Amino acid sequence: MADELTIDTIPAAYADDATLGLIDARSSTRSFTEGVDITDEQRAAILHAASRAPSAGAMMMYSIIDVRSQKTRDRLAVLCDNQPMIAKAPWALVFVVDYAKWIDLFEHAGCFTPEFAKRTGKSPRVAPGLGEFAIAAQDAVIAAQNATIAAEAVGLGSCYIGDIVECQEEVRKLLDLPAYTVPLSMLIIGEPKKRRPATPHPVCNLVMRERYQRADASVLDKQIAEMDAMFRPHATEPASRVHDIYTRKHTSDFMVEMCRSMQLWLDNWQGK
Ligand SMILES: Cc1cc2nc3c(=O)[nH]c(=O)nc-3n(C[C@H](O)[C@H](O)[C@H](O)COP(=O)(O)O)c2cc1C
Repeated sequence: MADELTIDTIPAAYADDATLGLIDARSSTRSFTEGVDITDEQRAAILHAASRAPSAGAMMMYSIIDVRSQKTRDRLAVLCDNQPMIAKAPWALVFVVDYAKWIDLFEHAGCFTPEFAKRTGKSPRVAPGLGEFAIAAQDAVIAAQNATIAAEAVGLGSCYIGDIVECQEEVRKLLDLPAYTVPLSMLIIGEPKKRRPATPHPVCNLVMRERYQRADASVLDKQIAEMDAMFRPHATEPASRVHDIYTRKHTSDFMVEMCRSMQLWLDNWQGK
């Protein structure tokens, strides 16, 4: 094995593989062909692929809210940091990290009763904690990613909307979300107006052999050079991309709102 693996392209041995090709060619779709709806077969194929994603203990600790109502998508477009493409996409899927369904099952199956506690020696426990969140969140996001790839496979395009975790109070009401849930991920899906080339993804300092390796100045310089080269013509001066991320994301108003709202979602998860 070579000391440094090249990971910026598919290795020649697998260049013709259809799955790897689909993953390589995918890019986020933010502009959709108007008037073209999604067929029931496409919807079913995408939702089936989502349901086949790995799930911790096969517990399926997520729910998928299938949003077709134009009114709901219009409102989500505003609540998710004013992104009009959400209203223009014909379909949205919200991937909800969901423990409410397990609490309902535990309750329904008598797990919280004194008799059950006596029989099993387990004192009743209702609300999940951050441990459950760690695995349930992975369930939800992996299902979303299966849906993303399936959308490509059936000729559609998609884009994640991270801002779905903002405006907790209103999103909770809009989607009727109960305690012990968090809508962590949203996908908008539709037919792409035009196919865009794959977005460059920086890979310098991405894979670390055996243990975490903090970048030194020379690695940081390499990372900056890679990003500046990839994001030209936007990157006009050295470190433009890093400066852009700092000002547009790390210190943005939307991130203040996302952090505030996510704290409320974590409280909701724990039934507070
Ligand atoms: C967690 C997550 C949240 C995202 N949120 C948004 C969003 O709110 N709006 C948007 O236009 N793109 C969003 N994206 C898409 C990314 O910007 C996109 O994946 C990235 O620029 C790389 O481009 P590519 O998907 O074409 O490879 C999100 C992606 C992820 C994974």
